Amino acid sequence: MTDQVQEIRSKALQELEALGDPQALEGWRISYLGRKGSLTRLLRGVSSLPQEERRLAGSAANNAKRDLESALARREEDFKQQALSRKLGESIDVTLPGHRVPLGRLHPITQMLREICQAFAQMGFQVVEGPEVEWDYYNFEALNIPQGHPARDMWDTLWIDYETEDGRHPMLLRTHTSPMQIRVMENNRPPIRVVVPGRVYRYEATDATHESMFFQVEGLAVDQGITFADLKGTLYQFARLLFGPDRKVRFRCDYFPFVEPGVDMSIDCFLCRGRGCRICGETGWIEIMGAGMVHPKVLENVDYDPSVYTGFAFGLGPERIAMLKYGIDDIRLFYANDIRFLRQF
Ligand code: PHE
Repeated sequence: MTDQVQEIRSKALQELEALGDPQALEGWRISYLGRKGSLTRLLRGVSSLPQEERRLAGSAANNAKRDLESALARREEDFKQQALSRKLGESIDVTLPGHRVPLGRLHPITQMLREICQAFAQMGFQVVEGPEVEWDYYNFEALNIPQGHPARDMWDTLWIDYETEDGRHPMLLRTHTSPMQIRVMENNRPPIRVVVPGRVYRYEATDATHESMFFQVEGLAVDQGITFADLKGTLYQFARLLFGPDRKVRFRCDYFPFVEPGVDMSIDCFLCRGRGCRICGETGWIEIMGAGMVHPKVLENVDYDPSVYTGFAFGLGPERIAMLKYGIDDIRLFYANDIRFLRQF
């Protein structure tokens, strides 16, 4: 009987290896290990054998059964692995182009700020930044805008709900970058040439041309013998660097409490070249910044002697310049975080 067991065992294993697909496994199992399978039938016959043969035949048949069962399990696993690797093989086509990784880019206002600062850096200006939460003293007082002065109405202010112990130092979100004029002069001695890019805040209802948060770039030059001609020459050069070499500029009187004289600067409209169009409001000119000679009172506030030192300052709005440059008609688009708008730049 032991011979019979061995015969069935090796035949079964041979057949198993030759099976070509997983569906055939069940048929194989039934014919050897099923209720009426050949090995099962042999096992049943063991009990009717004479005592001496029984032990040997029994253990041989049981071993054979275990071998066939584990060979079956291994075969099942083989088929599973084959199916899996066939599937993977189908989904990887190394000749396909890869997935495109979307490239990030700089926000249009960041680009504008860099372009502006770069132009002034070429002329020897240093780039510095300052706090967005500011003391009343720097935002107004030291800039020759005392408490109660009607000029404060030029800036709609967001006040911070905070009081110093003596209650005399109100805090606010800076309404312009001009407070940095004071901070820079307090911490340095002339010669000074700085530009200050940064966020500013206004208590303002938003519409197509107003935001409650926007950017400014402040400029300041202080030294002995600086004149209005330096102001004009510097700003004219800036306009040409940013808007092209044939740019014309125009200065007109304007009022800011911290400069004297104060001006606003315009460039000739780059769309109509001065003839008049929708962009420039039919005037041929586009206002791009406020500027002026640093007021003597401001110099005194930082202990500079106005009979020794003079300087000029300017402030411009990068959103406005970007809107003009790219024909954008709503300032709110810059901060709406709409990728369809932003990816155009
Ligand atoms: N700070 C002024 C504003 O916000 C602009 C300005 C800066 C004007 C420097 C003159 C000199 O309107």
